[in-house]
Formats: sequence, structure tokens, C-alpha cells
Amino acid sequence: MTILVEKPEVVAKVEDQNETSDLVLDGGFVVSKDVAGNDGCVKPEALVSNNEFITPEINAFGQTFREYNAESERQKGVEEFYRLNHIHQTYDFVKKMREEYRKLNRVEMSIWECCELLNEVVDDSDPDLDEPQIEHLLQTAEAIRKDYPDEDWLHLTALIHDLGKVLLLPSFGGLPQWAVVGDTHPVGCPFDGSIVHHKYFKDNPDYNNAKYNSSKYGIYAHGIGLENVLMSWGHDDYMYLVAKENGTTLPQAGLFIIRYHSFYPLHKCGVYKHLMNKEDEDNLKWLKIFNKYDLYSKSKVRLDVEKVKPYYLSLIEKYFPAKLKW
Ligand SMILES: [Fe+2]
Ligand SMILES: [Fe+2]
Repeated sequence: MTILVEKPEVVAKVEDQNETSDLVLDGGFVVSKDVAGNDGCVKPEALVSNNEFITPEINAFGQTFREYNAESERQKGVEEFYRLNHIHQTYDFVKKMREEYRKLNRVEMSIWECCELLNEVVDDSDPDLDEPQIEHLLQTAEAIRKDYPDEDWLHLTALIHDLGKVLLLPSFGGLPQWAVVGDTHPVGCPFDGSIVHHKYFKDNPDYNNAKYNSSKYGIYAHGIGLENVLMSWGHDDYMYLVAKENGTTLPQAGLFIIRYHSFYPLHKCGVYKHLMNKEDEDNLKWLKIFNKYDLYSKSKVRLDVEKVKPYYLSLIEKYFPAKLKW
């Protein structure tokens, strides 16, 4: 199976990839240097665990996963999505959205109520998924639960990781798809060539702003920590803010997964590592484990929601207040 990624216009710095030795994930499997593709990105099949979770070859549309260049109507929609995303996600836009949405003054509801609400949402940016979101949430959570039965925080993290997609709904401001879903990347520094459909950044006002492009760090510094880096605005950062501001007791790794699960340039291609600190590196191991379930559990397997619901309600009670501000 191959994953085609838009050919980078700018070749990203290679030193970070070269300096990494084999990567050992907490699940006990090893990703060696030679599983990286021509674009320098790790091939998803290399992240297949050694235990029961078997990754399917194709998605619900009969294509390999994250096949952004395949010719189909849906692919054209995905490309148009990234064109808009890359043009409009500027540093100033992200700052404004973050300030606005961290007020959490829109809705009050429980985590489970939000899971049900998310059923009304379909993600245009995703070439693999054409099912109600709650199925994807439970498929991901149940697949992880099977392989990591003792990490209950990871099961709950999987269940809630996409809840921020409610930003698409009118009561949350009805944001356009390009401001909610899709891969994320840092703003305030150069747009790395490995970002999918990179060519569209040339129409982003930040692309030619010297302040953000004079070095690979932009406005940031070496090892500054991702916490101090602004990411393109979307459901990841929003759900992170919701969880944190409502006082969740999820461990840091859970919050990191929620906040960066769409940051494919980092967890698939290994770029932007120069902005990470030690804590980010530890958390990234969990994110890589999570990601293979997030990606490959988008299959046509149906789940009995009522059967698994009591387990997830007990986790919600353990890690969250009964009602959250959104
Ligand atoms: Fe997501
Ligand atoms: Fe997801």
C-alpha cells in the first residue's frame, strides 16, 4: 500500500529526519528509518502494531487511506477544502479565533450530549470517512481499548478527540469547514513543504511576511515547546481548550493527543520537531499510537452504541464534570 502525498515545492529541512534513530513506540513496535517514503514521511503501514489490531488496506471508498491525489469527485472536494484552508489560516486569524472561542460562552452540555450532537456533522476534509461521527469516535475508542485495556484515559481520549467538530454547527458559530477540520500546522513560521497541497499557501498573506519566514523558527525559538506555538485553528485546539478550561483530570498525554491529532506534518512526517521540548517528545509517542487507530478505524464495522455506552459514561464521570462550558 502506498500513500501519495503532494510533492513538496519546498524541500523541508532533512536534518531532523536524518538524526532520528529507530523509533520505539510504547506499544512495543519499532519504526525504522527505512520505512520512510520518498517524501521523508513515515508510511502508515509501518505503524501497524504487533498485536490484534489489523489495519485494513482500503477505506470505505475503495482507496488507500489519505490518498489525496486520487482522481475522484470527493478528492476534488478535499483539494478545494485545502485550498481555502491554506489561504485563510493566517497568524492573525488563528489568534482572533483562539481569543474568541476560549470564552466558552456558547453552550452548556455534557460530553455524551456532545457525542450525540456530533452525529449531525460530516467532515468534508476527510477522504476516508463518510459515516456519522459518533461511529468513528466509538470505532476508534473500542479499537484502542482492545489493544490497551488498562489505559482508560486513552479510551476516553479517543471518544472525545473529534468533539470540537461541533464548531461547524450554527449554535457554535457555524464555522466553515476550512476553519474546523483537516490537517493542522503551525502559523507564525514557514509552512513546511510536507503539508498536504502546500502549493496553495502562496496565496496566504503570511507566506511572504518576512517576520514569519526569516528562519525555520519564524517568531519562535528552538525547543520552545508546542504549547507556545500557535496552530492553524480547528477542532483540535478548540476541544483542547474545552477540556482544559473545564478542569479535566485527563493526563497530559491525553490533552496532547486531542490538541495535535491532526498535526500530520509532525506525527507523520517528523517536521517541526525543532519547536518541541522534552515533554512534547514524550507525548508524541502516545499520539503516534493513537493516530493509527484514528486513521484505520474508519471502516464499515458497525457498533452497538447502547452496549458500550455505560462504559464510556463511567469514564466521562471519572475525568470530566457533569456539565461543561463550550
Ligand atoms: Fe480529528
Ligand atoms: Fe478522528
